[in-house]
Parts: sequence; structure tokens; C-alpha cells
Amino acid sequence: MADISIRDVRKSYGKDEVIHGVNLDIQTGEFVVILGPSGCGKSTLLRMIAGLEDITSGEITIAEKVVNHLEPRERGCAMVFQNYALYPHMTVADNIGYALKVAGMPTAERIEKVKQVASSVGLTEFLDRRPGVLSGGQRQRVAMARAIIREPEVFLFDEPLSNLDAKLRVQMRHEIRRIHNRVKATSVFVTHDQHEGMTLADRMVIMNKGTIDQVGTPEEVYNAPATTYVAGFIGSPAMNFLPGRVLASHAAVVLEEGSSLPIPSQAAQTMDGKLVQIGARPEALSLCRPGSGTLTATFEFYEELGSEGLHHLKIEDVQFSVLSENKMRLDEGTQIGVTIPQEALHIFDADTGRRIEISDPIHAIETA
Ligand SMILES: Nc1ncnc2c1ncn2[C@@H]1O[C@H](COP(=O)(O)OP(=O)(O)O)[C@@H](O)[C@H]1O
Ligand SMILES: [Mg+2]
Repeated sequence: MADISIRDVRKSYGKDEVIHGVNLDIQTGEFVVILGPSGCGKSTLLRMIAGLEDITSGEITIAEKVVNHLEPRERGCAMVFQNYALYPHMTVADNIGYALKVAGMPTAERIEKVKQVASSVGLTEFLDRRPGVLSGGQRQRVAMARAIIREPEVFLFDEPLSNLDAKLRVQMRHEIRRIHNRVKATSVFVTHDQHEGMTLADRMVIMNKGTIDQVGTPEEVYNAPATTYVAGFIGSPAMNFLPGRVLASHAAVVLEEGSSLPIPSQAAQTMDGKLVQIGARPEALSLCRPGSGTLTATFEFYEELGSEGLHHLKIEDVQFSVLSENKMRLDEGTQIGVTIPQEALHIFDADTGRRIEISDPIHAIETA
């Protein structure tokens, strides 16, 4: 069993620092997803855990042992990549069993083990084939089987599903989660796909240009994003943002176009005059008659999503969207009201982008 600890880890390529002092603790048996857009440093961080990249400074421990100077094969990690990295000239069985063969396991025992693992990922009937004749999903399963058979303490996944079509991607992520629930090895899974991250993770790590913005369960990250960056990255359609200023005299955030959004008066007092970004998720809002809601917007266009409609609006010059079962196909330019419930409000410091908690102390006591 192995936990992973990452302490003040930095990585530079030449003069360019791409990982800026990252700290992260991963528990034994946990499934952690590192999520962020392309280029934010996900693979670099994963490869440093695996030992495929040197660490410029800092310390990584696996199972309480500092691994900075250990070879990849001494770290007890198995890595699964996007491009599978299978041996094309070997059968599926030989691909899966290769590590055991190299380790000198007797043939009969190895064949038995290969059969067992192949069966667990649904590859029994393909054992004699070569990777070239398999589908993308089957190849991905071979790559998984090859990792599982080593019984590693740690699984490291670098966007293993990105080459698969949408349907197979969903199937494979269920399969990976099922395998994890059975094997319970510590797993670190890198992806740029928020849906993949949300569905797989015990905890998510949201990366932003070589730093970590937030670590939390999928729910925590969705319900209480730590920064505007996380708020905009997690959730689909994306969160709406509007600039405003806190006014204690109004107990509200007053938006540039003049509407005010009430917030608890104590919170308003401590932040009086502060410039903020208001965040509100499209699915937390509703449409109403102009003048009767929290603010008034101009209708731009409508997008049909099946069970719901996505209403694209404009408030002054800012794009804004409302996701609702109450579908309204209005003409472009029509005025429409938007209701923003207070519990749907996220408030961020306009300077730092960091979340400001506005929990209402009176309300908190009532509900406690
Ligand atoms: N071998 C390398 N040499 C120089 N720069 C690199 C190298 N590998 C990655 N980088 C840079 O480090 C940053 C992070 O890359 P990477 O970890 O691959 O991001 P991600 O996996 O999130 O897409 C990028 O700016 C990338 O260009
Ligand atoms: Mg990458």
C-alpha cells in the first residue's frame, strides 16, 4: 500500500520553470484526478512521480520513502499512456505477460496469471491476436491489463482515453473505475476532460499554469470553486461572470449596469467598496418577465439541448447564459428578466480571483 506525498516540487526546462512549487498528498487507495487544460503541467507532474522526469527541486515520497533518485522501475508504479505503447509484433498474451517474463516468472504460472487478468478486462478471446487487429478500446484494455498484472502499488494514467471515440471513452472510464474499486491501488489520473475527472475522481486537483488552484472532491470543486479559473473550468455550460462592487449601504453587490444582488449584511460590511466578480452557474438561474427578476438582459439566441434549453443573453457587453427546462425561444433583442437566487451566488475577489465566502452567520446558526 502506498501513499504519495509531493513537497514543494519545482520543474524547469532550461530557464523556463513549468511547475512552480507544488504540494499534494495522495492517500493510499485513493483515485486522484489531475485536471487542467493542455500545457498546464499535468504530464510533467505525473512523469516526475513515475521517475521519467527529474525533479528540479523539492521531494516526492511513495509509501513514505523518498523516491527522488530512484529509477522508475524501483518506484512500484505502473503507467498507462494515451498511445498504449504496445509491442506490435507480440500477441496480446505476450504483451500482457511481458513484465512477468522479464521478471523470470515460470511459464505455466505466467500463462495462468495472464489468463486471469485478461478475463478481468474482457480480453480472453483476443489473447492470440496482435495489437494491430484490435480496436482502440481493446488496445486500451491490453495496456490496462499489462499494468494490472504487475500488481503495482500505484497506477499512473496520462490521458489514457483521449484517443477513443466518445461512447467508448465513457465505457472505458466506467471500466477503469470498476477495476479501481476491485484492485484499490493508489491511482493518479491525468486528463483535460472535466467530465472524465468528475466521474472518476475521489478527489480532483485543478492545475493552472504549473500551480494547483484547488484540491477537493468533485462536489466541493463544483459547489465552492476556489478561484475564478476553477469556476470557469469546471461546469458545463461554463459559469457566468459579472463585475461588481460591494456596497455595505445596500447590503449587496452592485453590478456595473446598476442592478444589485443582495448578500448578507455582515459580509457586505467587511468588504465595503471591494471590487468583485460575481459568478452564477447557468443551471442555477431562471428566466422571468423583464423587471421582475434580479436583473434584466437582452436575448441573443437559443440552443436546444433536449431536456433543457440554453438561453444566450447579454447584460451590457457581457455574455450570460441560463440553462432551463422552461424553454423560451425569443427574438434576438427581446428584454428578459433573470432571477439569481442568493445561494447561487459565487463571489470572487476581482484582484486575486480568489473565492470570498459569504456564509450568513445567522443563517448558519439556524441550519446548524
Ligand atoms: N521536454 C520538455 N522540454 C521543454 N519544455 C517542456 C518539455 N516537456 C514539457 N514542456 C513544457 O512544460 C509545460 C507543461 O507541459 P505538460 O506537462 O506536457 O502539460 P500538459 O500535460 O498539462 O499538457 C508546457 O509549457 C510544455 O511546453
Ligand atoms: Mg500531457
